[in-house]
Amino acid sequence: MLIAVAAAKGSPGVTTTARVLASVWPQDVVLADCDPAGGDVALLGRGPGGAVLDPDRGLLSLAADARRGLAADALSGHLQYLDGGLPVLVGVSNPDQVTGIGPAWPALAAAFSGLPGTDVVVDCGRVTPGTPVLPVLGAADVLLLVVRARLESYAHLRERLRWLATVHTGAGTGPAVGVVVVTEARDTNAVRALSQLLAHEGLGTPVLGRIAEDRRAADALAGRADHGIGRSLLARSARLLVSPIRELAASHDFAHLRS
Ligand SMILES: Nc1ncnc2c1ncn2[C@@H]1O[C@H](COP(=O)(O)OP(=O)(O)O)[C@@H](O)[C@H]1O
Ligand SMILES: [Mg+2]
Repeated sequence: MLIAVAAAKGSPGVTTTARVLASVWPQDVVLADCDPAGGDVALLGRGPGGAVLDPDRGLLSLAADARRGLAADALSGHLQYLDGGLPVLVGVSNPDQVTGIGPAWPALAAAFSGLPGTDVVVDCGRVTPGTPVLPVLGAADVLLLVVRARLESYAHLRERLRWLATVHTGAGTGPAVGVVVVTEARDTNAVRALSQLLAHEGLGTPVLGRIAEDRRAADALAGRADHGIGRSLLARSARLLVSPIRELAASHDFAHLRS
């Protein structure tokens, strides 16, 4: 399964959400950093023993190989491992490098979605019209849009959902889209409130759940603190999203088979 994670606007916590989801995912998983604005995994992540990751091995080296065609397991040769064992595809260090990937995006998308027995969580940054990662979104089973629980975030989300409904992302039916709200742990109403708002606007996009605002755990994921996150509110909220994400993907497949 290919799970794309993105934002409509701003910096609501896409990288953090993708990272924590990958770290609690109950199946073999790869975290791929495809943010066209420049990746964070190489900057913030550390390998075993605190080793710095190699910025040249990842998305760019995979894209270079893609010019010669990619085998089904091509991704594995370009992965690095975070301390704790999570396999990551390191992103670009600056946005200029994305231009060079241009024609390779469809092959990269195929490499992500065709990885045998392994799910791939892709950090896609912001989904804006003209984003080069559109082929990845088109190949995704699920697109998770991350928002903060604020009215202005909801307004941008609504516009982006309308735009997504009109865009042709490439082959296939496109991803099943679901929303994830980043909220304070004690805010138990945000999911219901946003669901009602979207329904009221005639948008059937499901709000799958929430990611807890948890500064301590987010700092650990961003390399600003050195402690585990296994029992944190952040990790617990991410675990609760696993089933809704899988169910969304399954219901989308089913609807597609029947149509
Ligand atoms: N769930 C969260 N709880 C607390 N802080 C968060 C959370 N998600 C993100 N942050 C913080 O917000 C900032 C932006 O997060 P990041 O994941 O890099 O966002 P994006 O990828 O959308 O730009 C970072 O400082 C990060 O630590
Ligand atoms: Mg990010």
